[in-house]
Amino acid sequence: MEAKKKLKVGCIGLGPRGAGLYELLIENPHVEAYAVCDQNTNKLEAFQYKMEVEKKITTIQYFTSIEEFLKSDVEAVIVATHVSTHSDISIQCLDAGKHVLCEIPNISSFEEAKKLNRAVQAHPELKFMVAENCCYWAFINSWKEMYENGLLGEVVYAESDYIHPHTELQKYDEEGKPILTWRSYLTSIHYLTHNLGPLLYILGDTCDEITGFIPDINPMEDVHPAPPNGVIMVRTKKGALIKIFIGFGVHHTVRHNFSMYGSKGSLEYRRRREEQGTLGFFENMPYTRSEVVIPINDAYAGADERGHGGADPKMLEAFVDCIIHNKKSPLDIEFGINISLPGLLGEQSFKEGGKTMKMPDIKDFV
Ligand SMILES: NC(=O)c1ccc[n+]([C@@H]2O[C@H](COP(=O)([O-])OP(=O)(O)OC[C@H]3O[C@@H](n4cnc5c(N)ncnc54)[C@H](O)[C@@H]3O)[C@@H](O)[C@H]2O)c1
Repeated sequence: MEAKKKLKVGCIGLGPRGAGLYELLIENPHVEAYAVCDQNTNKLEAFQYKMEVEKKITTIQYFTSIEEFLKSDVEAVIVATHVSTHSDISIQCLDAGKHVLCEIPNISSFEEAKKLNRAVQAHPELKFMVAENCCYWAFINSWKEMYENGLLGEVVYAESDYIHPHTELQKYDEEGKPILTWRSYLTSIHYLTHNLGPLLYILGDTCDEITGFIPDINPMEDVHPAPPNGVIMVRTKKGALIKIFIGFGVHHTVRHNFSMYGSKGSLEYRRRREEQGTLGFFENMPYTRSEVVIPINDAYAGADERGHGGADPKMLEAFVDCIIHNKKSPLDIEFGINISLPGLLGEQSFKEGGKTMKMPDIKDFV
């Protein structure tokens, strides 16, 4: 019997994110490690050494130019460059006939949203997926099932915080000067997709109106010139309210908090690492006097916990699966724009004195 052809996979951008995702992707039995690209030769050579010398993987071709990389027979590509280039590079890949898994936020302007949407629509034979890994946490999928099964009733309010102190990420050059990275130049509320994404995914909802708030103080302007803290309030199409806080400029520890409050039940993701799990409050659980502790966190029981508590391998599996079985992309362009654009609108709202911004209909993005 003829062996099934494996999907030739590649990656553009071999920073910690691209390299880490690609290493997980090539463990998938349905793929062949085929080609990678980074314009930085040091990154490329370090990755080549790791693959060829440490891991004994010799099938990968190495490129510094995206144009040359795209001339190869690579079929599916992870785009993990800087936020400002995700959209243009994804378009280049699609136009060259490659499936794309694009890091988030996948756009950094309205114009990009339109252009990327057009490119995706022009290539219905290709899959485009946004790499919103947090939608693949076990508790997010458990909450989604509970919501869809009516356990929460109508959700009226949900909230989420992403706290990731910049001090924990700060790197220094040989002279001891801080190295400024993509995060330093990104208004933190643009990076809300890990929080807004899972909440909209659970609710099957989209944003209708967005208002953004940014503190007047930035105590870390030297290392994070773009505003490191901010809040966004969203009114959804179903009529719920969502609040998101992105805090890169506070003293804390890395944390994603989630809560949802509904007419028949509420869920809170427990905050302290050592108490991981969900607290559930359910109307239809007879005689309970308080919350129930549901022992579910980021990782699926018995599954691979690498890559953000197992979310990355699950997301990569879904990407490969939608290509080889020709299924709809599970996190498609519409979802990508729906979770990325509110960050830009939130900043616009703040700049216009807290004016509420209307989310455009993506169906009009042609
Ligand atoms: N989902 C997650 O959990 C998660 C976590 C971290 C970062 N990210 C996303 O991943 C992206 C990458 O993050 P990172 O920390 O690895 O960033 P990074 O800056 O360390 O790496 C980006 C790499 O892309 C390369 N690159 C940029 N432009 C290129 C081009 N035109 N051609 C070839 N190579 C190019 C750079 O040389 C660099 O090596 C970020 O933009 C962020 O949006 C997602």
